[in-house]
Amino acid sequence: MKPHVCPWWLGPLLNLPMRRWVQDPVRILSPFVREGMTVLEPGPGMGFFTLDLARLVGSTGQVIAVDLQPRMLAGLMRRAAKAGLDARIETRVAAAKRMGIDDLKGSVDFSLAFAMVHELPSPQDFFAELAPCLKPNGCVLMVEPAGHVPDDVFVDQVKAACAAGLVLSERPKIWRSLTAVLRQG
Ligand SMILES: C[S@@+](CC[C@H](N)C(=O)[O-])C[C@H]1O[C@@H](n2cnc3c(N)ncnc32)[C@H](O)[C@@H]1O
Repeated sequence: MKPHVCPWWLGPLLNLPMRRWVQDPVRILSPFVREGMTVLEPGPGMGFFTLDLARLVGSTGQVIAVDLQPRMLAGLMRRAAKAGLDARIETRVAAAKRMGIDDLKGSVDFSLAFAMVHELPSPQDFFAELAPCLKPNGCVLMVEPAGHVPDDVFVDQVKAACAAGLVLSERPKIWRSLTAVLRQG
């Protein structure tokens, strides 16, 4: 079955302030992100996590946000400009089967894939493209919505990451979520 992509007009719903009560971006991201880091965020939507990522990497860091839908990225950049964070964020429009990130090889400290892997045509191809971009000991935090994504599908997603050379290192607790931190060896 073809995966369903979250339509761009649902973008503002994903950014509702009350989501922060149960999925606080700073609490979720702080263990992984430091000033000066390069962060890759595939599937950012309208940037629920992106603005806090940009705050955490500071003026010496960079966030690269790659989404299939230009309207999601436009919404993200409107919010970033309002917050004065747009200079720290680069956006890229992905193709369904490729993000187009070959130039990032070996340069990414941290990647956040939040509620997006189940929308991909091939998690295998996704992780095969992402893994070489991570620095040694760099990691991906993959988070999927529990219930919406069945446990066995999540297990297959983790297997796809491991097949690309990543190693499962932690499973942080996030409200109503299946989680995996996958580290570059
Ligand atoms: C459910 S939304 C999650 C947005 C955000 N991560 C959040 O948690 O609020 C999934 C996002 O992944 C994007 N997406 C789907 N397929 C993609 C692909 N092949 N490459 C990049 N982004 C993709 C969608 O356009 C959408 O913005």
